[in-house]
Amino acid sequence: MSLQDLKIKTFEEYQYQYQKSVNQPELFWDEIASHFTWKKKWNKVLSWDFEKLDVKWFEGATLNITENIFERNLPTLKDTPAIIWEPNSTDTENKTLTYQELYEAVNQCANALKALGVGKGDRVCIYLPMVSELAISVLACARIGAVHSVVFAGFSATSLSDRIIDAEAKLVITADGLRRGAKTVALKEVVDEAVKNTPSVEKVLVLNVLNENIQFNPSLDVKWEEIVPQQSTECTAEEMSSEDYLFILYTSGSTGKPKGVVHTCGGYMVYTAYSFTNVYQYTPGDIHWCTADIGWITGHSYIIYGPLLSGATTVMFEGIPTYPDAGRFWEIVEKYKVNQFLTAPTAIRSLMAFGEEPVEKYNLSSLKVIGTVGEPINEEAWHWYAKHVGKDVCPVVDNWWQTETGGIMISGIGNLSPQKPTFAGYPLPGIQPVLLNQSGEEIQEHEVEGYLCVKFPWPSMIRTTYGDHQRCIDTYFSNYKGYYFTGDGAKRDADGMYRIIGRIDDVINVSGHRFGTAEIENAINEDPQIIESAVVGYPHPIKGQSIYAFVVSDHPIDKQDEARKSILETVTNIIGKIALPEKIQFVSGLPKTRSGKIMRRILRKVAEGEIESLGDTSTLLDPSVVEEIVKNRI
Ligand code: WTA
Repeated sequence: MSLQDLKIKTFEEYQYQYQKSVNQPELFWDEIASHFTWKKKWNKVLSWDFEKLDVKWFEGATLNITENIFERNLPTLKDTPAIIWEPNSTDTENKTLTYQELYEAVNQCANALKALGVGKGDRVCIYLPMVSELAISVLACARIGAVHSVVFAGFSATSLSDRIIDAEAKLVITADGLRRGAKTVALKEVVDEAVKNTPSVEKVLVLNVLNENIQFNPSLDVKWEEIVPQQSTECTAEEMSSEDYLFILYTSGSTGKPKGVVHTCGGYMVYTAYSFTNVYQYTPGDIHWCTADIGWITGHSYIIYGPLLSGATTVMFEGIPTYPDAGRFWEIVEKYKVNQFLTAPTAIRSLMAFGEEPVEKYNLSSLKVIGTVGEPINEEAWHWYAKHVGKDVCPVVDNWWQTETGGIMISGIGNLSPQKPTFAGYPLPGIQPVLLNQSGEEIQEHEVEGYLCVKFPWPSMIRTTYGDHQRCIDTYFSNYKGYYFTGDGAKRDADGMYRIIGRIDDVINVSGHRFGTAEIENAINEDPQIIESAVVGYPHPIKGQSIYAFVVSDHPIDKQDEARKSILETVTNIIGKIALPEKIQFVSGLPKTRSGKIMRRILRKVAEGEIESLGDTSTLLDPSVVEEIVKNRI
């Protein structure tokens, strides 16, 4: 059976499938899952309990996700490109791996992992640039049943170290360095620093990307070139239970350190392929390009797993949208005749700033569906994208989802569903979103706003947070009993379409990257001269949101420039450059209630420039701090 049979072809069929998925969810998913290759079939499609967070899909079934990518597709797609890799620099040669070549490369890497002592259930931390070996490493882990934990290569040594320790990773896979635009970053140095205090790490596998002379530690480091290429190109796939862990991916929430979101083999496979085929209306032969980094969930699900399970050709781009110039994305679309393109609103907004010339220069007629993901898209960016990239013929699919949801939840489906700028649209079949009011009751009406929750399980949902199940329950399943709480607010229009407003918790979304305010505050507070700090997000024309930090410090007033520099350095060291506050305001005190709680509402208004509507400040311990904050705001 082909996964193409899962493709919905009309809006009426979508409505029919949606109703079926709500009325008979087990039958619905049973039929969909039957299109995949399982070693053993399930005894039960679904069992679930949101209170204890015990969700099992396809219990009793066994499979290996890479057999569904390779063994299943190879008979027809052996010589079809699986990955087209486009380098950062236009002077470097690109690379294509056919399904057969990728299969062999994955098997060699899988055998090397085994030779390094990695087995089923072991965690492997992958800290690599966007080179094809990143996808190969991910799939090699899946082949042998090791659990991959990819860490975005922009995170600092401290962040990397925290993630390695939390996952108790046995192996770290990295490279000497990475290229990003005109810059290079010495990745291996970051890893050397990170593994100083990580007792679980037995080996570091180092890929040569830059030909840099790196410091080599013979007791820990192994060169990729010295162990991977000589391995056999055959490797039997490990038989995995449907609910065995496939991967961990760390993400930020409103409290504490980032959490390791866990996804499992069977459900994740079914849902990423199903959502990919439908949202992008994938047709065999299509070239799919998602510009995300594999360090984030979008790259996991819609560069690697979704497209490759479906037999698509997936483009992997090492560079950035503006290097060597602002036409790079469109040059790549033209070069590979990309059919489906997926990017983030931040990228669209940053390219809009360069005008129409760079995009009008290229032939984009191959495009059929264009997508946006990661943050709310504003009206202007939506129209620019639809007009200049989609030429008013490609549907714009706005994909709302999260690291925790594993796959796209609410979105247009190719050109089947009605479009409304800035609205993600309708839920995909199998997804039952609800809006709750402040008392936690479901709002039934249309034309309302509320807290976005999901009331029924779906196959690729989060199963736990690694090493701390209770934290997962507390974070997602306790605010509103019986619901998965997304942390987002949303609006539903008269036709039942959803528009995502944004986070209603203390999470800031900067250029599509998630950070918890507490996470950034903790980093700032590490600076010895800082007494306390409060961080809020404020609207930014390109990044969507940016970070504003209010800081109480010991630094003398005339040394504030130095203090600012020191804070930026501290945040860079603890989290990474991606989390730097754009504005730092030194204040003599933070607005607090009498019980000592920081009134973020007020700080948010100040950061947004809405100083006329600060609301009631009389309950504050010391209302005069607000006057000072307003007076000196940046
Ligand atoms: C936001 C990225 C509006 C949202 C896939 C969510 C969006 C968070 C959209 C998850 C969208 C993601 N429209 N907002 N299409 N997609 N978001 O875990 O606030 O990196 O909760 O997953 O991004 O970010 P994450």
